[in-house]
Amino acid sequence: MRPLRLGVNVDHVATVRNARGGGVPDPVRAALLAIEAGADGITAHLREDRRHIRDEDMKRLKAAIGKPLNFEMAATEQMLDIALEAHPHACCLVPEKRTERTTEGGLDVVAQHNHLTPFVAELSRAGIRVSLFVEPSAEALAAAASMRAPVVELHTGAWCDAVAHGDKEKAEHEFARLKSAAGLTTKLGLECHAGHGLDYETARKIAGLPEIVELNIGHFLIGEAIFVGLKESIGKMRAAMIEGRA
Ligand code: PXP
Repeated sequence: MRPLRLGVNVDHVATVRNARGGGVPDPVRAALLAIEAGADGITAHLREDRRHIRDEDMKRLKAAIGKPLNFEMAATEQMLDIALEAHPHACCLVPEKRTERTTEGGLDVVAQHNHLTPFVAELSRAGIRVSLFVEPSAEALAAAASMRAPVVELHTGAWCDAVAHGDKEKAEHEFARLKSAAGLTTKLGLECHAGHGLDYETARKIAGLPEIVELNIGHFLIGEAIFVGLKESIGKMRAAMIEGRA
């Protein structure tokens, strides 16, 4: 079984910081602690409205961490310029709506094929590993492969919501979609990541899909850290992932 990496998303440390407008809690400090606790990489989303991570945070994260930085961004010219300058290890292209509370769905890779393709090409040319945040559907994966994106991240939000609401039937249906999408990535030559809404239980279960090599997890880990500390929440997540993988 291939190893499963954990990318820790530190956006919501910045959310708490921004609630008061000062410098604490610092997402860079959280990133360093996350790495100490066993994170394989750090993820941060520079939103167009800068509601959590800010430009300066991205620069500081890049300078401070010794592990891969995964820069989540919308496919806009402004974000492309920032990404090319920051030169993170990876960029994950995500859809963005100002009114949403979080990234509500995957990219519409079929309708946006012509818009997204140059972003994939330009970031790849710069040596940045590009992933596309997509719905777990055959059409989305085929479109991602045709854009020559090396990586896809499967949106696990619908499945996690169904699990959280105790909707067993929907949860089974959504998990089956994730499973078949993960299987398809191998056939299409895509590296497969997954994320959104994962907690210990859902991370344990999805870790059992062998094609998935990276999980990106934020909100739950930061929320748990309020009660048990970041090191412990990450340690428990890592244990759940190892258990699920085995
Ligand atoms: N992956 C992507 C592409 C995301 O946009 C997000 C949310 O920022 C996550 C993973 C992490 O989701 P969560 O914070 O719910 O764990």
